[in-house]
Amino acid sequence: MPTALPATRPVPGSRPADTSPISLTPALGDDLDPIWKAVVPETRTRGNDIHLPISLAYAERLCDAFPEADRLLVRVAIQLHDIGWGRVDEDRILTEGFSGDWRKAAIRFEHERQGCLVAREVLPPLGYDAGFVEQVCAIIDGHDTRDEAWSLEDALVRDADRLWRFDHAGIALASGWFRMDPATYTDRLEAEIIPELLTAPAIAMATAELNRSRALLRTAVIR
Ligand SMILES: [Fe+2]
Ligand SMILES: [Fe+2]
Repeated sequence: MPTALPATRPVPGSRPADTSPISLTPALGDDLDPIWKAVVPETRTRGNDIHLPISLAYAERLCDAFPEADRLLVRVAIQLHDIGWGRVDEDRILTEGFSGDWRKAAIRFEHERQGCLVAREVLPPLGYDAGFVEQVCAIIDGHDTRDEAWSLEDALVRDADRLWRFDHAGIALASGWFRMDPATYTDRLEAEIIPELLTAPAIAMATAELNRSRALLRTAVIR
């Protein structure tokens, strides 16, 4: 069940945040493997086969910092949140999805709608009940276009969706989508994405990962 989101910003974690490189703690367990298997075709669009597993690893870390959160809800929602990109016109993803007011582009609403359709297709045959599927869809629907998070789980999905960009793999992929060089993109992460993070553990992880990525990519020099 979703947990009420505290009013404090950033939301303090109940436990300390793990700020080590994300590659040291891949997502645990194999219980979500049947879901991965069911959506392999949809992961081949827009870097989902990189974005979604890395974001799942961050989501599990955030759940470690917030043990009161519904861990399964956060994990399945982050796993499927962008899967709808696999069902929209691929040419429109870069032209409309990453330019201008990209968070409110029609294609953004479309990928959220399609993501809910995929979740309603794949989850029930794998044994997830209708109430759980609707909680997952409530997070997927509006994850980019809605301004507020409705629950702690919704907030953790939003933070995990942003955190992957701070890892060097995320910088490599996402800087290209926005047609930015890595140095400019890491500047944007600091100026625009860190202030959007809702929880203190996410800010700690993002800051540590950004510092490492900048050093690794020599962004102070290659600019
Ligand atoms: Fe999205
Ligand atoms: Fe995403």
